Amino acid sequence: MFITFEGGEGSGKTTIIESLYQDLLKMGYKVLKTREPGGSRISEAIRKIILNVRNSEMDAWTEALLYAASRRQHLIEVIKPALEAGKVVLCDRYLDSSLAYQGVGRGLGIDEVLKINQYATEGILPDLTFYIDLKPEIGLSRIKRSERIPDRLDLEKEAFHDTVREGYLKLAGLFPERIKVIDGNRSVEEIAADIMAFIIKDLRRMR
Ligand code: TYD
Repeated sequence: MFITFEGGEGSGKTTIIESLYQDLLKMGYKVLKTREPGGSRISEAIRKIILNVRNSEMDAWTEALLYAASRRQHLIEVIKPALEAGKVVLCDRYLDSSLAYQGVGRGLGIDEVLKINQYATEGILPDLTFYIDLKPEIGLSRIKRSERIPDRLDLEKEAFHDTVREGYLKLAGLFPERIKVIDGNRSVEEIAADIMAFIIKDLRRMR
């Protein structure tokens, strides 16, 4: 089972995924927790180019193509082997990030960005996607309070992140079976419990 997590900056995704990972392991599932670029050396190198704050002249299509290339390498090296080994894969960001950030945020169009990602993903879509929804205003203020050094996308204006959020909500409307919108303005425990209920239901159904 392939599960992805999406959300804006400071949505708490990483902490929530870690909590779900630990719970699924305790329940006896074989689980892989990964994030793009997920330890793939090549994907990592590509991401460094994308996120480098010095690359401010990067064209939006270059950005979208590089994300797709990085995604493919991670899919081939990490995700596919794990799915073939029967693992539950929890992945922090996947295709929908490109649809929301590049397709809607950068205005390239959801269909167009989907098209280039079809080459990258061979049409491999998650079974379930959780979009942790939070007002960018709240998420960005959480980041400012943390130690994290902002990358090129963090540095975009709040209006960009508002557009990305609209993009995610639009995607959830387009793919209601796959994408679940989760209220991110709650404690990690509440959010994780909410998501776990969906996952368990699906795991039982697939057995
Ligand atoms: P990431 O390293 O996953 O950081 P975080 O989830 O902690 O914000 O992503 C870095 C940035 O790249 C983030 O602002 C989202 C953006 N992004 C895209 O614009 N398109 C994509 O396809 C992906 C995967 C990420």
